[in-house]
Amino acid sequence: MTPDEMKQAAAEAALEYVESGTVIGVGTGSTANHFIDGLGRMKGKIDGAVASSVASADRLKQHGIPVLDLNQTGDLSLYVDGADEATRHLHLVKGGGGALTREKIVAAASEKFVCIADESKLVSVLGAFPLPVEVIPMARSYVARQLVKLGGEPVLREGFTTDNGNVILDVHHLEILNPVEMEELLDHVTGVVTNGLFARRPADILLLGGPEGVKSIS
Ligand code: A5P
Repeated sequence: MTPDEMKQAAAEAALEYVESGTVIGVGTGSTANHFIDGLGRMKGKIDGAVASSVASADRLKQHGIPVLDLNQTGDLSLYVDGADEATRHLHLVKGGGGALTREKIVAAASEKFVCIADESKLVSVLGAFPLPVEVIPMARSYVARQLVKLGGEPVLREGFTTDNGNVILDVHHLEILNPVEMEELLDHVTGVVTNGLFARRPADILLLGGPEGVKSIS
């Protein structure tokens, strides 16, 4: 089984959580794309979706699924998205695709967050995957210096601008032993828009695709 097939298996399993007549939140990335394609096969089951990126909005529209504005929908019952790393405590690192801020907003506004991934994303300690931090462009150097003080090695994601017009610093070599504390610490650095730790609002259910099927952790 290839990693992509494992992602697809997790995405298919998440379709079970979709209830008729609802508006759901949809994430970003290759695993979320499988989920969007699955939604496309369930034509008319949902009333629409709130997308966490322009790319996902485009894909939803290609399937004929109405894309709605979170300001119009109010809170959502379900959010489905991938992750770059996940722990058994359902803490996540996200933002490899650069959509972390909108992802965190949609996750915050959703009652249930189902995270879908292939089993290689499960780790015991977060941080081997460089932690994405979205930063206001004029604060880039200042924020980078603060990240160094926190023990990280920030690297500017070259040639990349987020959907919100900001830049991303990917922070290497952080061993994140207390994800809630680190998430709060990073959010307090002036100029940081969001960081890719999803610990204060973790996933509620983690669906991991592997050669033996899909494992659920909650
Ligand atoms: C997008 O910004 C990310 O948070 C994705 O959810 C994450 O990078 C997972 O991507 P894949 O599903 O492509 O592995």
